[in-house]
Amino acid sequence: MEKFIINGGSKLKGAVNISGAKNAAVAIIPAAILADGPCVLENVPKINDVTVCLQILTEMGAKVRMRGKNTIQIDAKHIRDTVVPYEMARSIRASYYFMGALLTKFNHAKVSMPGGCALGDRPIDQHLKCFKALGANYSIEHGMVEITADKLIGTQIYFDKITVGATINAMLAAVKVDGLTILENAAKEPHIVDLANFLNSMGADIMGAGTDVIKIRGVKQLSGANYAIIPDQIEAGTYMVAAAATGGDVTIKNIIPKHLEPITSKLIKMGVVVEEYDDSMRVVGASEPYERMNNLKTMPHPGFPTDMQPQFAALLTLSSGTSIITESIYEDRFRYVDELRRMGADISVDGKVAVIEGVEKLTGAPVKAADLRAGAALIIAGLCAKGRTEIEDIYHIERGYEDMERKLRAIGADIVKRKYPDPDTIRNIG
Ligand code: EPU
Repeated sequence: MEKFIINGGSKLKGAVNISGAKNAAVAIIPAAILADGPCVLENVPKINDVTVCLQILTEMGAKVRMRGKNTIQIDAKHIRDTVVPYEMARSIRASYYFMGALLTKFNHAKVSMPGGCALGDRPIDQHLKCFKALGANYSIEHGMVEITADKLIGTQIYFDKITVGATINAMLAAVKVDGLTILENAAKEPHIVDLANFLNSMGADIMGAGTDVIKIRGVKQLSGANYAIIPDQIEAGTYMVAAAATGGDVTIKNIIPKHLEPITSKLIKMGVVVEEYDDSMRVVGASEPYERMNNLKTMPHPGFPTDMQPQFAALLTLSSGTSIITESIYEDRFRYVDELRRMGADISVDGKVAVIEGVEKLTGAPVKAADLRAGAALIIAGLCAKGRTEIEDIYHIERGYEDMERKLRAIGADIVKRKYPDPDTIRNIG
């Protein structure tokens, strides 16, 4: 197993290049199944969730070729198998996109209940409701969801809850059906627009992505396409917060500043200087403590993203006064709090609300990443803390951040990755 070792105290300085968006890539890769010819995808992040998606495609019979570090060619012409291997599907959340893609292509899909970060209850009722509304039937047995249809027909679907995953799955499932599908109360995240753009470049007819009503007119055929995935706004936001937290001066490159507005506006409010350019942003941190946030509430896009909540909490531990964070998307996304407390943070949690009393300093400690963004928060805290922080379970972080250790080192962080023995092995020896 591997851990990060950080010696805190260096101000980050320089420029960092942002990779392609994880949550767009893990939707666009399964969507490539729908093409009759090969698809070439550029700006694909080299992260573990993407590797698992590509392994699933290969296991099912697709031909996947790397054409450089971040470009892949997928030819799904030879896929005949509509069953996604259990263990692979269970290890990531995005495996549920194979349900929508396989269903629309083959009228059948069998995929395990998805995994992903443990953030409390994460049901898939809205996904299943869409498949049913389009004319499919489903059953759940032995951990597998099996979906079958004789024929899928366009319809009107109202989401009871704003959900990124079900909006994407409904788009995938509806793209080739007979007639018009209208999705209402749809999610509006940038990666939803990215998927719609990719499908349209293959010949789909999707309008309204990025608003809460998406109209999908089914088409008979989709062809292969070349497509570049959008930059990852959460990776960008994470480096922005790291730059601010260390009082650094970092230019974040290869971004779409518009996608970052919900993050940028909060940083500016706290007193961070942000200069915006066409496809980059310069973040200049202060040496004094930042202003507290008296109501930082996570919301669906264009609200403040839940995927930035832990990183902001790390930043707020050192701000002046009392900050309040309300997590309104997930039941349990404060699992990093105990670890930040080990480092001297003063945080209390009551249900969906965290109260953070700013402290003068954090001190390095051995900690564990509970999930992907929790891990990012611990890295930010470690960069600011006095002394040495060791972060275990970094496989969570590597699910979603490309080359994080290398990128951070290039802007002045003192961070290395080291192997350590698996605790189970030690127990077995004992
Ligand atoms: N929900 C339901 N029923 C459903 C689907 C969702 O009740 O059928 C609930 C969820 O339990 C949650 C809320 O609706 O409370 C929002 O869930 P959503 O479907 O939007 O999230 P997701 O598809 O499971 C994706 C990202 C997450 C990100 C959320 C919100 C992927 C693979 N995952 O998850 O990313 O937090 O959208 O933006 O795209 C991360 O990158 O760290 C991460 C967790």
